[in-house]
Amino acid sequence: MGWVQGGGTAVGMLAEMLAAGMNANLGGRHHMAIAVEKQVVQWSRELFGFPATAGGLFLTGSSQANLLGVLIARTRALGPQVRFRGLARLGQRLTAYAATSVHACVPRAMEIAGLGGDQLRLIPVDSGQRMELAALREAITRDRASGLQPFLVVGTAGSVDVGAIDPLSELARIAKTEGMHFHIDGALGALAMLAPSLAPRFTGIERAGSLAFDWHKWAQVPYDAGFLLVRDSALQRATFATEAAYLRRAGQGLAGGAWWPCDDGPDLSRGFRALKVWFALKTYGAAAIGRSIANSVALASDLARRIAAEPALELLAPVPLNIVCFACRGAEADRRNADIVATLHETGKVAPSLTCIDGRVTIRAALVNHRTTEADCTALVDSVMERIRAQVVPQAA
Ligand SMILES: Cc1ncc(COP(=O)(O)O)c(C=O)c1O
Repeated sequence: MGWVQGGGTAVGMLAEMLAAGMNANLGGRHHMAIAVEKQVVQWSRELFGFPATAGGLFLTGSSQANLLGVLIARTRALGPQVRFRGLARLGQRLTAYAATSVHACVPRAMEIAGLGGDQLRLIPVDSGQRMELAALREAITRDRASGLQPFLVVGTAGSVDVGAIDPLSELARIAKTEGMHFHIDGALGALAMLAPSLAPRFTGIERAGSLAFDWHKWAQVPYDAGFLLVRDSALQRATFATEAAYLRRAGQGLAGGAWWPCDDGPDLSRGFRALKVWFALKTYGAAAIGRSIANSVALASDLARRIAAEPALELLAPVPLNIVCFACRGAEADRRNADIVATLHETGKVAPSLTCIDGRVTIRAALVNHRTTEADCTALVDSVMERIRAQVVPQAA
């Protein structure tokens, strides 16, 4: 329940063993493993309503996929010459926008890209932790008036703290009107598109310029299996492709093949991550994975109801997907919440994590693992209550 932890599967284990045995290198060349990754790219395009020309590839995780999204947006704004001439020589002052609830890897991506973490404007959120559109528009207008160049809007499809989904269609519209790249961080939530009952909540995801998501979270594929989809594959190639004599392509044979993933990202040697996703989809099927995702969401709402009904506890955020944030009531709640989580970890029975909501230390249970059941949620509530009863609460004078 702590952080965001996928569960893994038996076929994932088998696929990892086979991939290690084959030891295929998916930087490029013309071989079967590349065809499997191409197939997963195609399935991903279909799932998210991207055009058949969209690019995509496996990466370690969404931290890396979000970084690539920022770099692709940078190419869109400044042209491929930014790769050679550098930001300083081009003298541009690019600004990006994301909600205050955005994952920390996005500001870090701005830092790594050389754009500066401060150039990511953190936009306030509403009571559901979704980006405030009026505040976004104001920030863009203010920056333009100061001579800056707004180039990127990052929407989140499932925020790490509470699972909030930004208003994706409206963000797509604003990005289009303003001539900005629209990237979505779907690390946590995007694969809920596999559940027909949840998919409508993500309307607008099909309009992203680029989308980061993780097979290793809700799809239960073993780590690591991050993924990036990019609407304009030429832009992606213009951001990463390089010429090298030792990587010369041929019209036929092993050095042939139209797609060399090393042109679409920073890695040359790459493992066969696609096999474990292919195995999961072929063995269990997209529908079964979608059912397990819908089940996590149902368990989370049930857990939220139980916490709301418990006088010693309070819910600290709405539960739009699979994450329940709560706290104990009463004096010194911050200290006691931290103590509860640390003690639960040591018992080894349940393992929620901590976060901070509106300045309050919060117990956070993210239901991601397909093996989690109602009994586990009962164990969480019972264990928290047991710990509360054991705590010495200072008495009011
Ligand atoms: C919303 C969100 N974005 C990005 C990430 C980073 O993804 P990864 O751990 O795959 O690098 C996470 C991780 O939990 C996340 O929840």
